[in-house]
Amino acid sequence: MVAINFTSEQEANQQVELEQGETVLDGLLRAGHDIPYGCRAGVCQSCIMQCSSKNMPSQAQQGLKPAQKELGYFLACNCLPSEIMDVSTAVSKSEKVSAKILEKTYLNNNVLRLRIDKVFDYKPGQFCTLWKNKTVSRCYSLASIPQKENFLEFHIKKLDKGQFSKWAHNDLQVGDSIGVQGPLGECFYSYTDISKPLFLAGIGTGLSPLYGVLRDALERGHNGNINLVLGAKNADDFYLVDDLLALERRYIQLNVHFVAQTLLKSDDNKHIVEADIYEYIHQVVPDFKNQRVFLCGADSFVKKMKRRCFMAGANMPDISADAFLAFNQ
Ligand SMILES: Cc1cc2nc3c(=O)[nH]c(=O)nc-3n(C[C@H](O)[C@H](O)[C@H](O)COP(=O)(O)OP(=O)(O)OC[C@H]3O[C@@H](n4cnc5c(N)ncnc54)[C@H](O)[C@@H]3O)c2cc1C
Ligand code: FES
Repeated sequence: MVAINFTSEQEANQQVELEQGETVLDGLLRAGHDIPYGCRAGVCQSCIMQCSSKNMPSQAQQGLKPAQKELGYFLACNCLPSEIMDVSTAVSKSEKVSAKILEKTYLNNNVLRLRIDKVFDYKPGQFCTLWKNKTVSRCYSLASIPQKENFLEFHIKKLDKGQFSKWAHNDLQVGDSIGVQGPLGECFYSYTDISKPLFLAGIGTGLSPLYGVLRDALERGHNGNINLVLGAKNADDFYLVDDLLALERRYIQLNVHFVAQTLLKSDDNKHIVEADIYEYIHQVVPDFKNQRVFLCGADSFVKKMKRRCFMAGANMPDISADAFLAFNQ
């Protein structure tokens, strides 16, 4: 059995024994320590800690910047120590800033648009960690574009038992302050070749980063074909439909596809097709060889779509993906 020596601003050195296969994060939470975390998958960096004994496994530093590695930072959710480590939480708080809630608007029955102060610069499609309180945080993608909009915009889907999303929908008020950390991620438009065709696909609030990437590309003069394919169970699950149709009318190179699993007879479905999204994409793009691909939304969707695009000819380096991992996945 391996132990860790843990110190924080509130707690003096304490030893915690880790169970077989337990990460530093899980061990500390089990022992009752107040450790911030978000995705529990090495993505959001909410659980970043510092190790002074310089013997953390390299896996625990994956995705960190060279300077952070040098300072002994590591991700507690990705750390399975093989020998005793001295760890502390001291660093995590310094990177969080406070931002005011500027606007709350419902985009459909369960998607909230949250706009907050623009507290840092970013690339549309990257994501931030938003904090409910000292310990509960979740990742949300940026739908806004910094060159035109003086706020950070997030689309938050409400989950009935969601610790963060339910609170953001029901309790968070305009004028309140919220902790925000970031930006992170590489799912953004890089304008090296403005004529390369773009293929963007998402389900649910996967539209959030895609809306940022799409508008960024158009603002920067992207003139290659752009296909945006959005999937949902029913017609009611789509949002920002009018804005997307207006963009499609304005930009000749853009085609937006709304693909529902099931359509009702009563649905106003002129712009929606009923299809299996994984099959439908091959009608839109028969050959993915030269496509720059962006995939966002639930983990299962992103994985399956990535495989499909790759099998249809896309190059792996041309595929950017943001999987909305739930924290316990
Ligand atoms: C990089 C990244 C970007 C993200 N961007 C967005 C975004 O732009 N918009 C957005 O709405 N979300 C986004 N997410 C997901 C978000 O971080 C939260 O996981 C989500 O909002 C649920 O948090 P919660 O606290 O409300 O629910 P939790 O309290 O974490 O979960 C409540 C229950 O719902 C389950 N659950 C959690 N997530 C899902 C899910 N997706 N589908 C089904 N069941 C689930 C949990 O297993 C749990 O049982 C992103 C995640 C990542 C990693
Ligand atoms: S990186 Fe560890 S909780 Fe997200």
